[in-house]
Amino acid sequence: MHHSFSTKTHTKNPAGGFQQYYFMFRMGMVSHRIIDMSQAAQTLSQYDSHLARNYKPMEGFTIAGSYAQYVIDTTGTYKLDGLSCYGAVNFGHKHPKIVEAVLKTLETPEFFVKEVSNGTAKPGFRHGANDGFGGLTAVSRNFRTEAAEKFADRICGLTGYDRMLPSSGGAEAVETAVKSIRRWGCDVKGIPDGKQLIVVADDCFHGRTTTIISFSSDPTAKHGYGPLTPGFLKVPFGDAEALEKIFDERGTEIAGFLVEPVQGEGGVIVPPKGYLTKCQELCKKHNIMFVLDEIQSGMGRTGRNFAYEHELKTRPDGIILAKALSGGMVPLSAFVANDYLLDAMTVGTHGSTYGGNPMASLIGIAALDVLVNEHMAEKSAELGELLMTELQKLDEPAIKDIRGQGLWVGLELESDKKAKEFARIISVDEHIIVKDNRDVVRLSPPFCTTKEEIKMMAQAVQRVVKQL
Ligand SMILES: Cc1ncc(COP(=O)(O)O)c(C=O)c1O
Repeated sequence: MHHSFSTKTHTKNPAGGFQQYYFMFRMGMVSHRIIDMSQAAQTLSQYDSHLARNYKPMEGFTIAGSYAQYVIDTTGTYKLDGLSCYGAVNFGHKHPKIVEAVLKTLETPEFFVKEVSNGTAKPGFRHGANDGFGGLTAVSRNFRTEAAEKFADRICGLTGYDRMLPSSGGAEAVETAVKSIRRWGCDVKGIPDGKQLIVVADDCFHGRTTTIISFSSDPTAKHGYGPLTPGFLKVPFGDAEALEKIFDERGTEIAGFLVEPVQGEGGVIVPPKGYLTKCQELCKKHNIMFVLDEIQSGMGRTGRNFAYEHELKTRPDGIILAKALSGGMVPLSAFVANDYLLDAMTVGTHGSTYGGNPMASLIGIAALDVLVNEHMAEKSAELGELLMTELQKLDEPAIKDIRGQGLWVGLELESDKKAKEFARIISVDEHIIVKDNRDVVRLSPPFCTTKEEIKMMAQAVQRVVKQL
């Protein structure tokens, strides 16, 4: 199976050429400076950034471009993307079908005379793609657009849910879920307003708004940002008994259980088999909404379209999507749920200016089409198995654990310091960009990465681990 972008749809920039180039470069057969952008790099290194200091970018290179499974730095060096922007570019950078959708939104419809009857000219208009909903970027959801309606149809058709509420960032969609759960708890379950509780897991990561950091386990995410939002209870992740206990004790006050099916930022933690099923049963028993944050685990990353499909026989009450929902093109997220949960949000009680804008909606439809039509989850499963097999061959004491699901692997090293150093060396010297988080380095390349590149990645891991 050919995993890269089709050369047919993208003749100007065939990934085949990039792959061949990347391979030759790694084999030392070509010099890497195919484009000399060192002037730009020079300028940037002397630059005292006006960007806020809430991130500390890795030193050593500046990324200037991307294509498929590669990013290109300002010296013209190709690097394999081992992170996929935390899952935003699961399908590869600038997937041709998604680029096509972007371009379609920029077309201006052409007016023409549709029909002349009884001497009257009736105006009509056409779009380049002739599909009836191109050529529109942003209008408010206070006006009906075909793009937003069709995006909702597409997402609900694929998942089986009744409705979706579109937004931009991941955390924004988590906020939507939190508010829906609280509103449902108050209006439907009958918990007095202000008393609704939501259970979450220790070491979860759901974003960085004030409410979301209120239930973070990471002290650095919270320090100095108080007062925090009350109403959240914590249980250990993967422990169904702890959930049962808290439901037995306080079930009448609890409106929802919000959890990641696989904890991403927590270190790629896959819960024990049967955990999600048990959680769902307990939620049903206690009339508690069961909502999964699939922002990182969804869109094929674990080897299924959505991670809950590995285990659950029926859908949870709602799922939260973002990142690859737009194929890495624009910020796009959604809370997708059964009507009893999302209908709790009545007119005027929630919304956002860019949520459901026609441009993002059209891109979202294209990304969902790519997910399904190009069997992305299967590719992720196949490549993930290969990566895991290759990594498990390594007998390196510095590696404490290797775990994951699909093409999403957590490499646990001996310390946070070693993980940081590992990420730096593999990104700078081995040209595979990855990110560490505490003592774990995540490997989550795009699904168009080739099998040869997956093997090269495992070999690079070994070389770097030996240097720690
Ligand atoms: C599971 C999960 N939820 C929520 C978020 C927050 O998304 P965003 O950074 O787009 O707000 C992330 C981001 O990494 C995530 O992994």
